[in-house]
Parts: sequence; C-alpha cells; structure tokens
Amino acid sequence: MAKKTIDQVDVAGKTVLMRVDFNVPLDDNQTITDDRRIRMALPSIKSVIDRGGKLILMSHLGRPKGEPSDVEKFSLAPVAKRLGELLDKTVAFSSDTVGADAEAKAAALSDGDVLVLENLRFNDGEKKGDAEFAGKLAALADAYCNDAFGTCHRKDASMVAVPEAMAGKPRVVGHLVAKEIQYLSDAIANPERPFVAILGGAKVSDKINVINNLLGICDAVLIGGAMAYTFSLAKGESVGNSLVEKDKVDLAKELIAKGGDKLVLPVDTHCGDDFGDPAGCNKEVVPAGEIKDGFEGMDIGPATSAKYSEILASAKTIVWNGPMGVFEKPPFDAGTKAVAQAVADSDSISIIGGGDSAAAVDQLGFADQVSHVSTGGGASLAMLEGQSFAAVDLLDEA
Ligand code: 3PG
Ligand code: MG
Repeated sequence: MAKKTIDQVDVAGKTVLMRVDFNVPLDDNQTITDDRRIRMALPSIKSVIDRGGKLILMSHLGRPKGEPSDVEKFSLAPVAKRLGELLDKTVAFSSDTVGADAEAKAAALSDGDVLVLENLRFNDGEKKGDAEFAGKLAALADAYCNDAFGTCHRKDASMVAVPEAMAGKPRVVGHLVAKEIQYLSDAIANPERPFVAILGGAKVSDKINVINNLLGICDAVLIGGAMAYTFSLAKGESVGNSLVEKDKVDLAKELIAKGGDKLVLPVDTHCGDDFGDPAGCNKEVVPAGEIKDGFEGMDIGPATSAKYSEILASAKTIVWNGPMGVFEKPPFDAGTKAVAQAVADSDSISIIGGGDSAAAVDQLGFADQVSHVSTGGGASLAMLEGQSFAAVDLLDEA
C-alpha cells in the first residue's frame, strides 16, 4: 500500500526528525569511501529545508562495541561534514544523541537549518528499542520521516519505537524508501514477464529464502558465485577445493527439486589453484562439476556467461543479487561483467540488490545503465524474501 511521503507534510516552521541510513564505509583516516547513501537521501533532505522546515537527521554508523576508541571510529562527524559539502551549507552536529548538546542545538535551529545527531548506536537504547530513549528523540520534533531504506529490516528504536512514540503526528516515508519499495516490492509483485532473477555470492545460506520466494514468482532463477558449488555438491559432482557449505547440501537438493527447469545452474567454471594470487595462478575452464583437486571455482565460465546473457536478452524484469565470481580479482571478474553487460543491454526493468552486487555494478561502470541500484544490503534481501517491515508498516498511508 502506498505510504504518505515527506512532500505531503506541511513542514514550514516545523521540526522534522528524519531517520536516514548514513552507515557509509570509511577508511582508516575516517574518510568516506562511498557517499552514495548520503547522496540518495538528498531529495528528502531538500524537500524539508527548501520548504522552510527545521531538520534533525539521525543514523547509526557501523556496530560500535562500547569501547573508548568507538567515539572516533564510529562518529558521524565526517558524515555531517560531507553532507554540508553536498548541500553547500552549514550543517550543525551534536556530540550526543539525546543529551544536552543535541537538545541545545535542536532548539537553536532556524527554518531551513539542518542538525545531524551523533551515532544512535552510542546509546544502548537504540538496539534494544528502548521506549525511554525513543521518547527523548520523539520529543525533539513535530513530524517523523523514515528515509533509511538500508535499515528498514531492523527494529531499532529510531526505526520503530520513535515513530510509535510520535503517534498523532505526521509519520511518513522519504523519497528513497518510497523508491526502493516501488522497485523491490511493487515491481516484483506485478512483474512484466519474462521475470528473471540472478543470484550469486558466496553462501546458499544467505539466499535460501530469497531463492525460495523467487522460484515461486520468477520464470527463471540463474545461479552463480560460490553458492553454485554447494549445488554441485548436492548433485554429487566434483568441486575440488571450492568454497562450499557442506551442511547446506540437503537444502540445495530441496531447492533443485523445487526449482525444476526454473533453477538454472552454471554449465562451466573458471577455476584457479591459488586464491591469494588470482593473476599469477594456474587457471582453467572446466565443465561445471568437474573441478580438479587443488583447484577452486572462482567464476562462472564463458559458456555459462553466454547462456545467461541469452536468457537475460529477452527478460522484461530482472532482479540481481550477488556477483557471479570473485569480481574484485581479474580475470575472475569476467562472469560478473558479462552478466552486467547483458542486464544493461536488455530492454527490462532491472533492479540490483545492494551490498556486493551494487559495488560490482558500480565498479564495472554499469550503474547508470540499470533501472535501480538499491542502497540496502540486508534490507533488499529481506524485501526479495517477501518480508514486510514493521518500520514501514506503522507509517501513515497516503
Ligand atoms: C547495513 O549497512 O546493512 C545497514 O546500515 C544496517 O546495518 P546493520 O546490519 O548493522 O543493522
Ligand atoms: Mg548489514
């Protein structure tokens, strides 16, 4: 069901508390290495400040463990700074989340101003969904907006208890959450066919529920990545030293039985004999299931790339989650590249799940040639599993 969006709230002179997912990667010098999640929140941020609202932004960053070094390592200060650069305006930052500094800086906001609160997870109450903590955040504002798609599968205080505490006030979705739901849920509920899913990555265990759900609604589910070797093992084939999940073999057998012709497995494998030296090691392409001892599968082979590309050429809806091989290590990026090219060339609505697949599409230069690249890793997987999110369900209907 469509949710009310931030654009539908009269924000002039009001304070909006917006949950964003500013959980961005930082290097050892606290430099942001990918600011996509910040940039994707800009439309909602601008919607508030351009219409004279006062904006308080809250997010988590990483998983702080309560150690003294956390304060620097997991601080949102670099994020507030980057946001200021992107908006080309001063962005206030409070050194606490619900303490004296946050309260003072929230009270000092003028219309059109922005305040970023320090990492929500510096407070135990965030992960616990604590009502008292949530109540203090809720008291800061007149309206609540969830634009934190990457965190929508979590029930952290800022995602659920805060909007609960703000019952009676406007509680809406932001542009990013609305867009992600449109692609990951609505487009999949009513797909244009053929609807093809491509699932890769290391582990079957991460994707069981996704494979199960998509086998029920797709016309074909193409498998790549290391999880293909667990399927190989389930068929009694040779996998050499490939990465496999022995305890998931029975499950793989069930998925093969359930999937029938819909579940498409690789026909060949590009292997190497030294994962640590992909460029220099001995390499060979073998038929799937015939990997020699001493070798491990690192990518789908060229025949599989060709087969998958042909299936994708006629697809009208494509969902892709997880790379086909070790795409960070050429030449084992070839399979992921071929699939990315086929997705880009197709005349389809193409949806790329977050995490590794988003990184692969970005790194290989195809991000502009697909319909949607999700900002959610776990959240996009949960959505592809068909889960609904408490953090979204409780928000106002349009
Ligand atoms: C993510 O990057 O997956 C989200 O920001 C959620 O973070 P979490 O997995 O630590 O809850
Ligand atoms: Mg995660």
